[in-house]
Amino acid sequence: MKLILCKNYDEMSEKAAAEIACLVKKAPDCTLGLATGSTPVGTYKRLTNMYKSGELDFSGVKTFNLDEYYPISPENSQSYDFFMKKNLFDHINIKKENVNIPKGSANDPERECQRYEELVRSSDPVDIQILGIGVNGHIGFNEPGEYLHASTHVTELTESTISANARFFESEDEVPKKAITMGIGTILRAKKIILLASGRAKHAAISALLDDRITTDIPATILKTHGNVILICDEEAYYG
Ligand code: GLP
Repeated sequence: MKLILCKNYDEMSEKAAAEIACLVKKAPDCTLGLATGSTPVGTYKRLTNMYKSGELDFSGVKTFNLDEYYPISPENSQSYDFFMKKNLFDHINIKKENVNIPKGSANDPERECQRYEELVRSSDPVDIQILGIGVNGHIGFNEPGEYLHASTHVTELTESTISANARFFESEDEVPKKAITMGIGTILRAKKIILLASGRAKHAAISALLDDRITTDIPATILKTHGNVILICDEEAYYG
């Protein structure tokens, strides 16, 4: 795993945006794997600015998002569908048909998982997958547990995730208890993975990522089995 240690959130965002920009310029028809949460917001802002200044063109880019709450309507301002529009898609020239996010409003969630998994697997591999990390070490919504899932699946969110994500909702009660998420196998299929981490709350998870353990108690540690991972993190996440 390659480490890029940054002073702060802004520098982390700058480096991540530069990696993505470099790919989009070199391969205008590339596929990006995208994440939500507060961590990639600064990266998306920079990509938006590069588009507005004419530096980047997203018309040939395809995207797959990692996850979505379940059940949730795309119009709900807490949905990841809404988040992606607000923070990136509404501001760049990406084609609607090239954007893929699990449907949190699907009637049959199991079927939706199957549809999404097949879609990812039948498409060109993701060139760069952006990941954040939960305070408990989750990636996407692959939560700690006895075992991890290989494919896109419905997951029950842990208490830790519900309370960490409550800051985006009016109250903790409003946080959906389930989500649809790419599985570990779906994520590891990406050619390159960029994991972003900022702030002291992520220190324990980042420390586990940098030692030699691979454990389902900290799902991100499975990234050690992938040959092309860049960890871009700030000093608070690295040193605690
Ligand atoms: C959320 C998302 C993850 C994200 C993580 C961290 O629950 N499912 O994809 O990486 O939690 O969020 P944040 O960046 O806000 O700390």
